Amino acid sequence: MEKLVEEVKRRFKPKIKPIEWRGDRLILLDQRRLPFETRYVEARTVAEVADAIRNMVVRGAPAIGITAAFGMVISLLESRPKTVQEALAVLASARDQLSKTRPTAVNLFWALDRMYNKAQALATSTTSVEELEAGLEKEAVAIFEEELEAEIRMGLYGAELLEDGDTVLTICNAGGLATGTGLGTATAPIYVANMLGKRVSVVAPETRPWQQGARLTVYELVQNGVNTTLIADTAVGLVMYRKLINLVMVGADRVLLDGHVYNKIGTLNEAVLAREFGIPFYVLAPTSTIDPRSRVEDVKIEERDPDEVRTARSEQGVVYVTMRDVPVYNPVFDVTPPKYITGIITERGIATQPLHKTLRRLLKS
Ligand code: MRU
Repeated sequence: MEKLVEEVKRRFKPKIKPIEWRGDRLILLDQRRLPFETRYVEARTVAEVADAIRNMVVRGAPAIGITAAFGMVISLLESRPKTVQEALAVLASARDQLSKTRPTAVNLFWALDRMYNKAQALATSTTSVEELEAGLEKEAVAIFEEELEAEIRMGLYGAELLEDGDTVLTICNAGGLATGTGLGTATAPIYVANMLGKRVSVVAPETRPWQQGARLTVYELVQNGVNTTLIADTAVGLVMYRKLINLVMVGADRVLLDGHVYNKIGTLNEAVLAREFGIPFYVLAPTSTIDPRSRVEDVKIEERDPDEVRTARSEQGVVYVTMRDVPVYNPVFDVTPPKYITGIITERGIATQPLHKTLRRLLKS
């Protein structure tokens, strides 16, 4: 495994740079404009970082965690606290502000807690604000680097499940844009398999209402030379019935220890259909996406602006596809019960059934 990890690292040349840290600011690829326009947004204040996450300039569970981690560093650069105690107060307030941006992806809270805990630990050993700042910047960089390392490992575990000529159904964008690294979670096995000489194709549903599949997944897969077919969300059943795909690989925003998986709305539909048609259904998630504390009743499924459903994102901008006042229900994630899941691929290995036992074992390993 270690030799292959090094080989993938050496050969992996990301075509996109969704998140870049420039020492005092974040440069974020604006995902609201893709694939029509490549535009970047700069974030130099906590408010700008929070807006970028809330408004989906940057999106996808690992990417918002990484962005929020740098947001904690930015809070110190912005407020210039004079003592370590003042710095801790600034960080607590930034954590509070950033944690209110999006409720479902656990990576956001995981990264904020990790950064704050690191600050508290550093505060016991230094009275220098500069040292604290440098230590936190190092921690945010580590979170970013660990994500890529995890994705390479998930890619290698996932690629073993793929045969030359296979076609994978995914959903949303769980690719390099969603993780900031260029490699992704659900896309990692596809990129790695192709790198290792297996030809693997992808079927990507458009993923209404925000069209992450149509706008982002198709864009990044094609840029990386992967044979990709876009389908309407409503075509998923027929695609399975006709065996046009061999297996399903999706990302996750939160995985509970009992095996419930929160991911983009429509994931549950794919999971239930996959069970019906006897197609393996895999979830790819780094361990930072596993929430060891919550139960189903604790997790908030984000509901977004009704206009996201009333409109479509086109080259001309956002256009209405229905009446501007029609009542809308717009939950943007769903939850898939463990019984529908063949396995959860993490950087530490694959958790198979019974998930409530194997996930615990993986987390302890
Ligand atoms: O609303 P989004 O675009 O942030 O939702 C993203 C997803 O649901 C992804 O599948 C998930 O974050 C996994 S990303 C590797």
